[in-house]
Amino acid sequence: MESKLLAPVQLGALSLKNRVVMAPLTRCRANNPEAAPTPLMARYYAQRASAGLLISEGTIVSPQGRGYPYTPGLWSDAQIAGWRLVTDAVHQAGGLIVCQLWHCGRLSLPAFHGGELPVAPSAINPEWSMFSGEGLQPTVTPRTLTREEIAGIVADFQRAARHSVAAGFDGIEIHSSNGYLFHQFFARCSNTRTDDYGGSHENRGRLLFETLDAVAQELPLNRVGIRLNPMMNGMHGMTVDEDTAPLFEALIDRVNAYRLAYVHLTEPFLPNQLDGVVGALTDVAGHFRARCQTPLLANGGFDQTQAEAWLAEERCDAVAFGRPFIANPDLPERFRRGAPLNPADPETFYQGGEQGYVDYPALA
Ligand SMILES: Cc1cc2nc3c(=O)[nH]c(=O)nc-3n(C[C@H](O)[C@H](O)[C@H](O)COP(=O)(O)O)c2cc1C
Repeated sequence: MESKLLAPVQLGALSLKNRVVMAPLTRCRANNPEAAPTPLMARYYAQRASAGLLISEGTIVSPQGRGYPYTPGLWSDAQIAGWRLVTDAVHQAGGLIVCQLWHCGRLSLPAFHGGELPVAPSAINPEWSMFSGEGLQPTVTPRTLTREEIAGIVADFQRAARHSVAAGFDGIEIHSSNGYLFHQFFARCSNTRTDDYGGSHENRGRLLFETLDAVAQELPLNRVGIRLNPMMNGMHGMTVDEDTAPLFEALIDRVNAYRLAYVHLTEPFLPNQLDGVVGALTDVAGHFRARCQTPLLANGGFDQTQAEAWLAEERCDAVAFGRPFIANPDLPERFRRGAPLNPADPETFYQGGEQGYVDYPALA
């Protein structure tokens, strides 16, 4: 049977040469204190340019958005110049790359903010542990964002979108998943606000749509994707409840009018993640596909066989691979040849340096 995974696809204005997308992967190799990308990062991304599309690692829009050490940003000239090294290297190697824009909200630590509290929609501790750079530390109860501060965050995303164009990116992805700031606004477990950013589905989605309206002033929305992980449960302080699926249905219905490049959905892939959970969906893309008029990217625990099956059934338009792309810079070629995959080494995911980063072998 002909491979759909290796066939081209159009996602908005993005013309992908194949449907093997590299998922966003934080690797903690940016330099400090500038939070700027380095030549080593350019090498890593260029090695993976045979993907139909590369989605960059989470890139913080402001110092306030930081939740991990050595993650890159996109607010300064040094960061734009660092990212330019990356996008030039990827384009020279024939690839396409979008920048994932990120604010961690309450998934952060006072250590990153000079001892001040991280910010969130509501003062609710996610009861999680985060890496400070000196081991794991427990999260704290964050400070509630004022409406003026929320407007400031929208402006930070708009500035990062403008900088993404200056840095040579082909588009952006709003990181509205995985329990970070946007997801904290969406979910009842983390948002108990009584103003127009809390309560109704419309209110809890307001930050996302204000951000889309703002970034649309900097680049066409058919170069913008959003990421959603509706069924994240028991991780990063998120819980699924009977309101979760209806909330995401409402978001996706509204997203339709924006004509985005793509909606990127993560499947529940962690063991026992949804055991006994009221309102759980085990098949996320299958559930949302019919109402989603935006091209759909699926992610989460996929291998080649499952990806081909989902594409054949038209459950999605492309598949994003995370850990397989860490360990296999030439993943599309391995799929083409049916070659075995290198295993990924979790010990080196976040450790810095070349090992476990640019030294995974490609096929001869
Ligand atoms: C080392 C590592 C870093 C990650 N960093 C990010 C990130 O910056 N942004 C994001 O949205 N997801 C991030 N993720 C989640 C991945 O994009 C992906 O959803 C997850 O690995 C499941 O896909 P897979 O089974 O193909 O690996 C990360 C995952 C890993 C393993």
